[in-house]
Amino acid sequence: MPHHISTRAVHVVNDPPPPGSRPLSVPLVQSSAFAFDSADALAEAMAGPDGPYAYSRRGNPTVRALEQTLAGLEGGAGALAFASGMGAVSGVLLGLLRTGDRVLAQRCLYGGTYAVLADLSARYGIEVTYVDPEPADVEAAATAAGERPALLLLETIANPTGQVPDLPALLAVARRLGIISVVDNSLASPVLCRPLELGADVVVHSTTKYLAGHSDVLGGAAVFADDGLRRRIWPRTVELGACADPFAAWLTLRGIQTLPLRMRETCASAAVLAERFAAHPSVAAVHYPWLPGRPSYDTARKVLSGGGGGLLSVELAGGREAGRAFIEGVRIARLALSLGGVESLVAHPASTSHRELDAGALAAAGIAPGLVRLSVGIEDVDDLWGDFADALG
Ligand SMILES: Cc1ncc(COP(=O)(O)O)c(C=O)c1O
Repeated sequence: MPHHISTRAVHVVNDPPPPGSRPLSVPLVQSSAFAFDSADALAEAMAGPDGPYAYSRRGNPTVRALEQTLAGLEGGAGALAFASGMGAVSGVLLGLLRTGDRVLAQRCLYGGTYAVLADLSARYGIEVTYVDPEPADVEAAATAAGERPALLLLETIANPTGQVPDLPALLAVARRLGIISVVDNSLASPVLCRPLELGADVVVHSTTKYLAGHSDVLGGAAVFADDGLRRRIWPRTVELGACADPFAAWLTLRGIQTLPLRMRETCASAAVLAERFAAHPSVAAVHYPWLPGRPSYDTARKVLSGGGGGLLSVELAGGREAGRAFIEGVRIARLALSLGGVESLVAHPASTSHRELDAGALAAAGIAPGLVRLSVGIEDVDDLWGDFADALG
């Protein structure tokens, strides 16, 4: 006797595709759970990150495709995808640190990362020492009296100052002293820099930014030089629950396919705009690593390949009020948070992305109160400059 209509409605057809062909794009497996024929096989699947899929917080085929793609792009042994960049930063820090550990962190970091470090320090007894990312300073801080640091935290291109640390030299210091190095590579993307190839242990990403690239998805990832680290962190991420959603992973994979094209365009436009801003009488300073004469210029040429990225910051001669008028005056670029999408955005870091830093920390990080951040998209560069020049006027 056929089953009743409610049973037939619930059990929609779900057969694997017939052998002989397969989908060209990555299948979106939007399933929270996976069915097994054997109870033992299901129990076994709970053991590690790579067993058959059991439950999508522990692993999912679409998410795994993203993880393997990212590992391939960064030259890593494995990766874990997260719900956001902050999920990745928090997952890695919580997965690697214990109470009493010491962290050395670059002074200029994304505000959200700074906030996690402040919380870990205040509530979990983790000591955080901020350093200028100079090899001698890092070595001196690492070997100063007290516990040897467990972790060094850097950004390839710092948000929002565009500072580029000398990764090969700093990572060599970390390696020699047995400190785990974590590099946030969100602003460079693996197109401009692959920190694992320069000696880093872990790379973290806000895939929300250039990797996904279309301002329509939040995501994060950690990529590991050694698969042992991925296996060590995986149980913590399963507990934290900040796992990537399959649809978010699918959108990110789709974005990644055009990443090199978008990076090429954004780098070329940002370099042109940086020069035009630098020559404009209303502009007091331009922060862009690929601009000759900038403090990070020589290091940027050594660490980044093919360009200085799409983020540039400017300080206007009229200070904070001029900055406000500028970000409210643009018409093609939009006043919005985030960066790395196809559309150009402007923002004021001190009151938004870096609001967690007090006046002293902002000054130490080189973020002037009136500094304005631009994320350069892939619109025509002359249209963009027309918009910015009008807003400056
Ligand atoms: C360098 C950097 N790391 C991490 C993050 C956090 O990423 P998400 O917003 O995806 O959580 C951001 C966000 O702006 C960022 O700029």
